[in-house]
Amino acid sequence: MTAETTADATAAKSGNAATDKFRSSGKTAAVAADVARVNLLASKLIKAANDIVLEERVTYDEFNALKAWLIKVGDDGEWPLFLDVWLEHSVEEVATDHREGNKGSIEGPYYVPEAPTQQSPATISMREDEKGTKLLFQGQVRSTDGSPLKDAKVELWHADEEGFYSQFAPGIPEWNLRGSFLVDSEGNFQINTMQPAPYQIPTDGACGQLIAAAGWHAWRPAHLHLKVSAPGHELLTAQLYFPGDVHNDDDIATAVKPELMLDIQPAGSGNGVQTTYDFVLDPVK
Ligand code: DHB
Ligand code: FE
Repeated sequence: MTAETTADATAAKSGNAATDKFRSSGKTAAVAADVARVNLLASKLIKAANDIVLEERVTYDEFNALKAWLIKVGDDGEWPLFLDVWLEHSVEEVATDHREGNKGSIEGPYYVPEAPTQQSPATISMREDEKGTKLLFQGQVRSTDGSPLKDAKVELWHADEEGFYSQFAPGIPEWNLRGSFLVDSEGNFQINTMQPAPYQIPTDGACGQLIAAAGWHAWRPAHLHLKVSAPGHELLTAQLYFPGDVHNDDDIATAVKPELMLDIQPAGSGNGVQTTYDFVLDPVK
């Protein structure tokens, strides 16, 4: 990537692309218009904000700074980024705390459905000169009773060695480092990919402005994103992390859990690294 496209890639373009993708995702069709529920949630949110104003004696200057900032979040297309970084982890916790199998982690703003499907073992689509350390990612998909799920599908997407996602940062082939993989008759998968880099959420838009103003940092540890599905089972959305990453303990998105840490070993092939991670899905009740 040239210096120019790298600079471009960190611009609010990722934010706007995330907003466009969300709009066309169909997710808003599921929003329930239950009056009692909206009344409860909106009232609680408004009360929480009012309590902060009264407790912290918020000034008109601060109130106006908040207005200007909220307007900028929309202008920069950064509502998906903001909500996925600072709120989704609690929503994910509520959605999955009943599970016996894997609980998972946040989806984040950069999932794209219907990535090209391949039969495992496979190599994810990548550029001929894709930079980084080769990573063999393998494992098995099972049900909570231990039986292998031979009809499971493993969707994998992640950033490249510079921390950029295809379809959100410019200049990257459409399905780069994205794929959908069918497991074998024993529920096993083997995917060749590249180890992703730590990821910095875009710093030049409204979220970056907040991070700088509050003296925070913008980093997420390096991670693989996954969706693991099988007929009759709950969809698992997860992220997996690499031991030793300096941001494992202070992820801006609060999406790291101990059970999501990979065990990274030198690759049997002698080139790069490999890791084995098994997924356990809950049957739909
Ligand atoms: C964001 C980006 C990610 O890659 C992720 O996993 C979670 C959140 C973000 O920029 O909001
Ligand atoms: Fe991510």
